[in-house]
Amino acid sequence: MTQPGKPDRAAWIQGPSARCNPPPDRAQEPWRLILLGAPGVGKGTQADLLHQRLNACHLSTGDVFRAAGSRAECDPSPAMKAALQYMRRGDLVPDSIVWEMLLERSGCLRCGGGFLLDGFPRTLAQAESLKQLMENQRLYLTAVLNYRLPLNEIVARLCGRRTCQNCKAVYHVTERPPKAADLCDHCGGKLFQREDDRPESVKVRLEAYEKSTAPLTDFYQQQGLLVKVTASGSPAEICERTIGALEDWRKRNSARERA
Ligand code: AP5
Repeated sequence: MTQPGKPDRAAWIQGPSARCNPPPDRAQEPWRLILLGAPGVGKGTQADLLHQRLNACHLSTGDVFRAAGSRAECDPSPAMKAALQYMRRGDLVPDSIVWEMLLERSGCLRCGGGFLLDGFPRTLAQAESLKQLMENQRLYLTAVLNYRLPLNEIVARLCGRRTCQNCKAVYHVTERPPKAADLCDHCGGKLFQREDDRPESVKVRLEAYEKSTAPLTDFYQQQGLLVKVTASGSPAEICERTIGALEDWRKRNSARERA
């Protein structure tokens, strides 16, 4: 289930044999963006808001793994079972498993509405593979957004996060509380705390980010694609800041995008 009015991203979440409902609109100049930033910095929250403004589809690798883990009707494959073990501990899933999952869904990178890639790439090997795949398909990234926030605020966001068990809407116990305690505003579903938001997993995730994912900022900076965004303030303020940065970016780089 997804939030009412939000595309169900079926081809991404379930795999290429599923059809998205509603089908994505074609954009004249689709935005093809990567969202980088530490766990809990607010990438998923921003992806939701950016989707409403830019129409590009929110492609989250974490959502694919979580959906596979919660699908009651089928037993996950051995590779997916292994992925879920890594995820519960807060460790990165091995590149080979992530890449197989991404390749299966590579049609979503050609989506006419563009994409907001959230949680991928997370290692240099993943970034290199993505670059090669996109070059082979003559697809080009518009930009890479790098969200930044002090560590203490990141930890507070992660520890207070609650997610709806039905539609997966994201809340925060103090910053974005639901109207009725523990119940989703959109569908009335029960809110729960993600397993990997427990303090012991949060520590592992932040270490994995520093070691494996933070170096990606240099990788994209060298390609002239990195756009830095301060992730403090309300979600709406950060979204406005992002849109402003992207508009500036597009003005400065439109010649390159057309090339
Ligand atoms: P994933 O689901 O990608 O998790 P993540 O990157 O750790 O990011 P989060 O979803 O935790 O945080 P977010 O930045 O989206 O923040 P959110 O918007 O929810 O990955 C999970 C796991 O899957 C990984 O640990 C790994 O095991 C595996 N995995 C996935 N992709 C992989 C890959 N490519 N390679 C290997 N392994 C992979 O916000 C957080 C909280 O803050 C919420 O409560 C929200 O309401 C609140 N909040 C948001 N914005 C604000 C604001 N402005 N002010 C106050 N509160 C706010």
